[in-house]
Amino acid sequence: MSIWHAAAHSKVNLHLGVGDAREDGYHELVTVFQGLNIADDVTLRVQDTYVAEIAEVVHSCRAEAAGQRMLDVPEDRRNLAWRAVESVAAAYAKKHAGAAFPVVDIHMNKRIPAAGGMAGGSADAAAALVLADRIYAQHLQVAELGMGKLTELAADLGADVPFMLHGNTMLGTGRGDELTSLMSRGSYHWVMALSNKGLSTPEVFHKLDELRAKEELHAHLDITEVSQALLSGDPYRLAGSLHNDLQPAALSLRPDLRTTLVAGERAGALAGIVSGSGPTIALLCADEEHALEVSGELVGLRGVRVVHTSGPAPGVEVG
Ligand code: C5P
Repeated sequence: MSIWHAAAHSKVNLHLGVGDAREDGYHELVTVFQGLNIADDVTLRVQDTYVAEIAEVVHSCRAEAAGQRMLDVPEDRRNLAWRAVESVAAAYAKKHAGAAFPVVDIHMNKRIPAAGGMAGGSADAAAALVLADRIYAQHLQVAELGMGKLTELAADLGADVPFMLHGNTMLGTGRGDELTSLMSRGSYHWVMALSNKGLSTPEVFHKLDELRAKEELHAHLDITEVSQALLSGDPYRLAGSLHNDLQPAALSLRPDLRTTLVAGERAGALAGIVSGSGPTIALLCADEEHALEVSGELVGLRGVRVVHTSGPAPGVEVG
């Protein structure tokens, strides 16, 4: 038996521009991702049992937070990390006919909130892809699939998964999975106000379509301002350029989030924004000390838990 660990970092969208709805149920995005230092620990425990059937390579999947079982994270094939391991095994099986694979147990120690707009499920899947690649390459004594192939497998799992593999700062176009690296100077400090109830990503996109059918809500597809702010390394400038087209939709589904945004700004944050599809509110601060002050001010806000973090952070880190 062997045990493999990876840190799966979360993200914030500094800019999230939502364009047209596509035939495949997705929307065209122009988004700027930045990795954050809040991370899940993903462990793959490799058993001494071998199977040739891809559907049997994952034996179990378990998610815990602070030692407690997580009720809102599926522990079967619906979990993206489970499907990630299967997709890596399938890619090796295609190249090495008749190969047998050691069975794995997946364990996730979660710090990224579930359904929080911080891509926790996608991050875990990215970590599972990297670990499974190492495990199966070593077992079969062949070269790893590598980042190029893993990025392809990641895109099949979900639109955010490719970024969660790479991390740092990237422009995402298409479904958000066509990536280009962006320069970012310095580091940025955030208070993340986590809600005790999740928000469904498809519902938020659907709500935006509904709102756009009724009122003028332009798509913001220009990232010039945010890119220049990132080059300056100035958090005040970045604060002025944060934007999320999904924010009106998230606030329409969850009006209570407006209270968190207002409280964050009153507490002195430079700017507040819904993170991804929400419900997490990301509050940008001037530096670490300021983030501590702002999070201190927000303690006690009903239904909200605050953590402070910083970015950019890498994607998956093995070890
Ligand atoms: O790819 P993923 O499973 O993370 O996407 C979840 C849902 O979010 C999609 O089914 C779709 O409803 C919505 N989405 C979208 N356009 C994107 C990304 C996600 O409409 N570019």
